[in-house]
Amino acid sequence: MKNTHHDIPSAVVDALQSAQRVVIFTGAGVSAESGIATFRDALTGLWSRFDAQALATPEAFRAHPDVVWGWYEWRRAQALRAAPNAAHLAIAALARHVPELLVVTQNVDDLHERAGSHDVAHLHGSLHAPRCSACGTPQVFPDALPQEPDEGRRIDPPACTACGAPVRPGVVWFGESLPTETWITALRAAERCDVLFSIGTSALVYPAAELPQRALAAGATVVQVNPVVTPLDRYAHCNLHGAAAEVMPRLVAAVSEHL
Ligand code: OAD
Repeated sequence: MKNTHHDIPSAVVDALQSAQRVVIFTGAGVSAESGIATFRDALTGLWSRFDAQALATPEAFRAHPDVVWGWYEWRRAQALRAAPNAAHLAIAALARHVPELLVVTQNVDDLHERAGSHDVAHLHGSLHAPRCSACGTPQVFPDALPQEPDEGRRIDPPACTACGAPVRPGVVWFGESLPTETWITALRAAERCDVLFSIGTSALVYPAAELPQRALAAGATVVQVNPVVTPLDRYAHCNLHGAAAEVMPRLVAAVSEHL
């Protein structure tokens, strides 16, 4: 039932209808239609304007805390300004049609939660969970930023409320490991699920990109949603080549019609 465009193959609907456990694995592409930049899309991706390796590392934060903190505050402001799109809403609606559904996201925004998804595992952390770079104490910030940081503005990180060391973004940087509990939860879910959707990810960054492979190895049906071909295309049972905000509502409509 390989590649199709916007019509949803009946085999995908059937697989979802008989599924007990579903995993929705998402990347930056699911937030693209909310106006949040992806990483690798040429021209619009974050990396076309920044050298992410120069920013998303512990070394960069130690050397230039104001540049790194300013970049993430700009990204946090983007996320706060954004609204969940039809893909996030459809994923939240799909959870009402299957017994168990876990969202495993590489994204650091909270659009899945704001769309109504309850079970969300953040493999790469969250823009909304800053913590102390020294003692690890979680820090709570007002959602409304004091001012709209513009891209590239330097902002000194605040001091930890417990020990005074600089506060860091609660995201996973290059060279850092994924949160252990979250990774184990995601791995177990991928190995036990009946269907895994890979939505809006270039499937290039490991270990996260391992999840669809683990699901395939365990006999799950793997469906990909992405406008372009990715390394996962050749392994997925079905590749729905379209934008998530177009494909996902059609998928949920097809599933709910048949229930
Ligand atoms: P990428 O920017 O690498 O890939 C985004 C994917 O979304 C691409 O394959 C696009 O084709 C696709 N896409 C774009 N618009 C879309 C739409 N409307 N609907 C569906 N798909 C769309 O982002 P990720 O794969 O999420 O990690 O990147 C993975 C990780 O790399 C990120 O979590 C980040 C980065 O390093 C860390 O920061 C640790």
